[in-house]
Amino acid sequence: MDEVNWGELREIARGAMRRAYAPYSDFPVGAAAIVDDGRIVSGCNIENASYGITLCAECSLVSQLVMTGGGKLVAFTCVDGNGEVLMPCGRCRQLLYEHSAEGMVLETVSGRKTIDEVLPDAFGPRQLGEYHQ
Ligand code: THU
Repeated sequence: MDEVNWGELREIARGAMRRAYAPYSDFPVGAAAIVDDGRIVSGCNIENASYGITLCAECSLVSQLVMTGGGKLVAFTCVDGNGEVLMPCGRCRQLLYEHSAEGMVLETVSGRKTIDEVLPDAFGPRQLGEYHQ
């Protein structure tokens, strides 16, 4: 894959963040990622009066990934309402793991890290496969 243009990816995440529906937390989030075929997908958080069913920006991004042809994520970034890099929440790291290419890189508050570094010893499809064989 070509060199990742992190600045451009962050700008796309900022654009997504501006579409967030976050009237309850007033904490808009935007996410953007590069897919292994070169597509770029993005998402924003979508809150709900029933707070617990809020969709994180990563959920919206993964929906777009699947609906536009699937594939694996190779590079990911997420920003807060100030456009600063935001660490994906734990649930969303699991969500991203399922759709990550091996060695997927995330921009984090402490630099660029692989999916395995931000979700060590992850539970995933392999464990299900091993049990069922
Ligand atoms: N949020 C995300 O969209 N992604 C994250 O990784 C962290 C949290 C959203 C959920 C909620 O709408 C708001 O941020 C405050 O928690």
